[in-house]
Amino acid sequence: MKYVFWSVVLSALLTACGGSSSGGSSDDGSADGDTTPSLATKTALGESLFEDVNLSANRSQSCSTCHDPQRAFTDGRTDSSGAVRAASLGDDGTSLGDRNAPTVTYASFSPAFSSGTRSRFNSQQDDYEGYLGGQFHDGRASDLAAQAGGPPLNPIEMGMADKASVVSRLLENSDYVAAFEYLYGDGIFDDTDAAYEAMRDAIGTYEATDEFATFDSEYDRFLAGDESVQYKFIAGKAGTGKSLFFSQQFTNCATCHQLNTQGSRTETFSGYEYHNIGVPENSELRTANSAARALAGVDSSDAYVDTGLQNNNSAVTEDSGKGKFKVPTLRNVAVTGPYMHNGVFEDLDTVIRFYDHYLTGSANTINPETGVAWADPEIADNIAYTELQDGSLLTDDDIDALVCFLRTLTDARYEDLLPDDGLCD
Ligand code: HEC
Ligand code: HEC
Repeated sequence: MKYVFWSVVLSALLTACGGSSSGGSSDDGSADGDTTPSLATKTALGESLFEDVNLSANRSQSCSTCHDPQRAFTDGRTDSSGAVRAASLGDDGTSLGDRNAPTVTYASFSPAFSSGTRSRFNSQQDDYEGYLGGQFHDGRASDLAAQAGGPPLNPIEMGMADKASVVSRLLENSDYVAAFEYLYGDGIFDDTDAAYEAMRDAIGTYEATDEFATFDSEYDRFLAGDESVQYKFIAGKAGTGKSLFFSQQFTNCATCHQLNTQGSRTETFSGYEYHNIGVPENSELRTANSAARALAGVDSSDAYVDTGLQNNNSAVTEDSGKGKFKVPTLRNVAVTGPYMHNGVFEDLDTVIRFYDHYLTGSANTINPETGVAWADPEIADNIAYTELQDGSLLTDDDIDALVCFLRTLTDARYEDLLPDDGLCD
């Protein structure tokens, strides 16, 4: 009994942006003929909700605090040393999650969580069979609307007590009242659950708009024939990186990070498969959030392990889910560090060296960020060795080229965030 209680509290504390349940309808449109309110579409309402700090207990935090539109909808807040935090601080100012906030750009392309098969492209590996899609690193919310109900009620995020308190915050705002009644029906506030569902639906609708999927990076402009970027892909490092990335023989990247046939104009660089790639524990973050657990009066001595897909996602209990995480999109990846579900790596260069270390004879036996050998995987079960050991050793030039290719996946409006280090000139 006691154990069950603490494990519920702990998973709420450690797994940020929590919660899930089913979504509502998602079409824009009005439910009656009243005068048009200032927020007349689900998208406009959703955007306003996404940015509203009043949906958090201390009115200090909105979705966009951790998903900043200026930073490809990730959390750019820094710690006292000036480094971007691996995990997010909550509305109470002290709680710290255990996972890195993913970009919301292109998130709507993740299919609803399911179990099934998927064709792979540019890969020597067989097609994939297993869990696919969903939202969160472990897919525990099936879709965007389901996801959006979690953070307001998560004690280490926006920290509201219950749905009724969130709905009472909505009722404080007469623009919301008018918009909800116009879009979801006059009686919408008679039923707390229905009003909460409507809020989730509006946020999910907003997140599925083109604003989150502009497909206007240099890579997209190259595909579209834009003269000004052709040279980069023909003669530059990014071009070499692109060839390596899509190569069946020299790298394995496309096996997991390619959704469609090569050249697709809506490539998101994730097949939404689940894998354990052997990411080490972020021990610094664990130490920091164990202090947060102590502050919250929760036993902080417990050695917490993030099992990923297994257990966190109530649909998955079998051992084959242990340690697996959803393959993330690589769009905007060059401006959304740190990397991996726990933010354990700071640089893309490190991530690529980490992949190389799985190959026999790799020169990359040392983690350049720690100066010592790569730490053991947090979870040693189910590591995707078949995929990870398929490929050829990378030279330092190959690694630079892959980094340069990943930089070309940055949406036009975020290009000014790219490092000005001359690496790809
Ligand atoms: C305190 C920081 C924080 C706040 C506030 C927050 N999020 Fe998140 N968000 C995260 C973290 C951390 C994750 C990853 C959590 C996990 O996988 O368990 C996440 C995951 C997500 C995802 C999943 C993306 C993917 O690729 O799987 C979406 C979508 C999202 N958040 C939207 C929202 C919305 C909408 C709100 C407001 C209602 C919100 N978030 C509020 C930190 C936050
Ligand atoms: C077996 C499938 C698989 C292969 C092969 C693979 N990846 Fe990944 N990749 C993943 C998964 C799963 C994650 C997330 C792991 C986590 O969060 O713990 C990831 C994370 C990443 C990240 C960090 C993204 C972020 O936002 O944190 C980058 C960058 C990346 N991969 C690039 C590559 C490149 C480049 C290659 C080829 C050299 C490659 N991957 C090969 C599955 C794969």
